[in-house]
Amino acid sequence: MSSALKVGILTGGGDCPGLNAVIRAVTKSLIHHGQCEVLGIADGFEGLMGTQPRACALDWDGVSGILHRGGTILGTSNSANPLKDAATLAQVQANVQALGLDVVVAIGGDGTMSLAHGVAQATGIQCVGVPKTIDNDIAHCERSFGFDTAVATVADALYRIENTGNSHHRVMIVETMGRHAGWLALEAGLAGAADIVLLPEIDYDLQAVAAVCRTREQRQRYTIICMGEGAKPQGGAQTVQAHVEGSPDPVRLGGAGHALRAQLQPLLRSEVRTTVLGHVQRGGDPTPYDRVLASRYGHKAAQLVLAGQFGQMVTLQQGRIGSVPIAQVANTQRKVALDHALLVMARDIGICLGV
Ligand code: F6P
Repeated sequence: MSSALKVGILTGGGDCPGLNAVIRAVTKSLIHHGQCEVLGIADGFEGLMGTQPRACALDWDGVSGILHRGGTILGTSNSANPLKDAATLAQVQANVQALGLDVVVAIGGDGTMSLAHGVAQATGIQCVGVPKTIDNDIAHCERSFGFDTAVATVADALYRIENTGNSHHRVMIVETMGRHAGWLALEAGLAGAADIVLLPEIDYDLQAVAAVCRTREQRQRYTIICMGEGAKPQGGAQTVQAHVEGSPDPVRLGGAGHALRAQLQPLLRSEVRTTVLGHVQRGGDPTPYDRVLASRYGHKAAQLVLAGQFGQMVTLQQGRIGSVPIAQVANTQRKVALDHALLVMARDIGICLGV
C-alpha cells in the first residue's frame, strides 16, 4: 500500500455497553496492521453534517483503558439525519473529502445501517457497518453486544422489585426497553423469574393476565410482570411517549407499563405498581461476554476494511462472525418468532405470556 488508508469511526443511535470495546478493537487492529490512520467522528453522522467536520485522531493510547467502559467515547446522536436533504448530503460528502477518509466504520442499529446505506448510495462514501443494540433485534445477528449487559441489569432490577412485591403483596410491572422486539423482556424475564412476560410479538389478553394475578393473590400473594415497552393489549395500540420530528427513527415508545397498570388495577384486590427502567438498561460497564463479543465485531470490521469489502455489515450467525451487505439489514428487524424455543420453554415452566 503506497499511502496510508484513512478510516473514520462513528457511533450512531442509542448508546450501548460495548461500543468502546468495538472502537478499541477496530482502532487497534488497523494500527497493528500498519499503514492505517484512524479518526473518531464525534456524535455519529452529526459530526459530518456541519460546515466543519468534527473528528479527532485515534491512536493506540487513545483507545487504551476503554474496553470495559460503558457509553461511547465518540458521542452519538439518534436524531442526526444526513439524508435530510441534498444540501446536508453534499456537506457530508465535502466533510468526508476534507478529512481524506477512504471508508467510514458506522457502528449503530438498524437506523444507522439505513443511514450508512443511504449515504453510500447517494454519495459513493464507502461504509462498513457494525451492528449494535441492547434490543438484540438486528437481522443476521443472533446476539448483539450490549444485550447480555442489559439482560443482567433488568434481571437484577426484577430481583430487587421482587423483594418489594413479595413484602407488600403487590403486582409489580417492570417495563423494559426493546422497541418492537421482545428479546430483552423475554430473556431478562426468564433470568429474573418473572411470572408474566409480555412481548410486542404477542398481544396480551388483559383478562388472562388478570386471571394469573388473581390466582397468585390466593397463593404467593405477589406477581412480577416483565413487559417490553412495545407490548400492547389485544385490539389496542402501542404506547408512544413522543414523536421526534426529523429523526430517522421518530417514534419513542414508553409508558406501556403505566397503561397496563391502569387497566389491571380495577380487576384486582392487590395494589398494582409500575417501574419503567428506562436508560439504566443502556448504561453500565459491559459484561465480560459483551467485551469479547464487541471486540470480535470490531476486529471483523477492521478485516473488512483492510480487505476492501465495503458496503458490508458484520454479522454473527451460528456462533460465527461473518458479514452481509448493509442493504440486506437496512430497515429490517429480527423479532422473537412465535415458535422460538425460549417461548416454548417459558410456557412449559408456567410463565404466562399474556394469552
Ligand atoms: O434501540 C435502543 C433503545 O434503547 C430502544 O430499546 C428504546 O426504545 C430506544 O432506544 C430509546 O431511545 P431514546 O434514548 O432516544 O429514548
